[in-house]
Amino acid sequence: MAIERDPETFSSENPQSLVNKVMGYTMMRKDGDAHAAERKAVEPALRPGAVKSCWAPRFEAIFEELVKGFELDGEADLFDAIAAPMAGRALAEVLGFQDVEWQTMARWSQSMIDGAGNYSNDPEISRLAMGAAREVEEAIDRVLPYHHDNPNNSVLSSMVHADQPHARGQIYANINVAIGGGVNEPRDSILTMILGLLENPVQLERVKTDPNLWPSAFEEAVRWISPIGMYPRRVTKDVVFSGVKLKEGQQIGLCVSAANRDASRYENADRFDVFREKKSHLAFGAGSHFCAGTWISRHMVGRLVVPKLFERLPNLRLKNRNNVEVRGWVFRGPTTLPVTWDT
Ligand code: HEM
Repeated sequence: MAIERDPETFSSENPQSLVNKVMGYTMMRKDGDAHAAERKAVEPALRPGAVKSCWAPRFEAIFEELVKGFELDGEADLFDAIAAPMAGRALAEVLGFQDVEWQTMARWSQSMIDGAGNYSNDPEISRLAMGAAREVEEAIDRVLPYHHDNPNNSVLSSMVHADQPHARGQIYANINVAIGGGVNEPRDSILTMILGLLENPVQLERVKTDPNLWPSAFEEAVRWISPIGMYPRRVTKDVVFSGVKLKEGQQIGLCVSAANRDASRYENADRFDVFREKKSHLAFGAGSHFCAGTWISRHMVGRLVVPKLFERLPNLRLKNRNNVEVRGWVFRGPTTLPVTWDT
């Protein structure tokens, strides 16, 4: 929190960042007015009001379509059956794409993430990442005339109709960053929340009987296994922070997944506990870069997908806990979630 409250010392800008190379100069790597103007332009599409009036019914329709496709099967891997397609399809709609399938969203997202972390300079990773960014640009070019002529609730429409409209390069970069950061995290938090509840049946029963607890279960899930574990800041001047000397120009990692398990803040921090004392967490970051997709995710994951899935799949249970692996550091979540239920 202290770092996020002091952006002059701990800047989001980093000219060397691989994120800039792959995605362009995104709002996530800008400070001050430049950041604020771009953030303001996208926000109308992502605020709670837009979620309630526009996205909630669309998300529900996508969920229904997906769940109808497998609810009679009695078993599934929830990664492929619901989490990945739900996250990809929802984001495509929110951004304003009309012809992009969820598998393409997932491929773009993963390729650009890999490219943004390609510190070994692997040419194949680089090729795939730059190729994905180019495909995103082409998809934006196809759909932009529609959004110009038909103002609507999507992010692309919001960008072009803002008081300070995005230039084409800003559109590309900020759509790229939303794709890089808006597919994995909702997907992973769906699976994490289901895993936490299935491993704690007493909590699950309480949540099922008191639906007001679903939002707390979501916040606890992203605290427990934070979908983004670390993000960087650049030190702009020599400073002593928490007794550590930091030098101008150094890159530091804000390990929010560690902060979210800080034993001096959370009792039994490693435990998933929906009933723990309510305290804020850092899974969505903090300060001016606080995740723009927070309200979308809270609704989609915590109020729609997970509660409805438990309603629709009776006696939902893990097939084999030993098969569930939670992986990743910068991005973290279950890589599979094989389950069974009664039909
Ligand atoms: C559970 C789901 C999510 C989690 C845990 C999450 C987490 C985060 C975190 C930690 C940051 C701060 C990164 C930084 O400051 O360097 C961030 C920023 C951001 N997120 Fe998310 N995110 C989620 C979902 C989404 C979704 C669905 C979208 C797209 C609609 C999205 C769009 C963004 C954008 C555009 C930023 C940059 C904001 C800025 O720089 O002002 N996120 N997110």
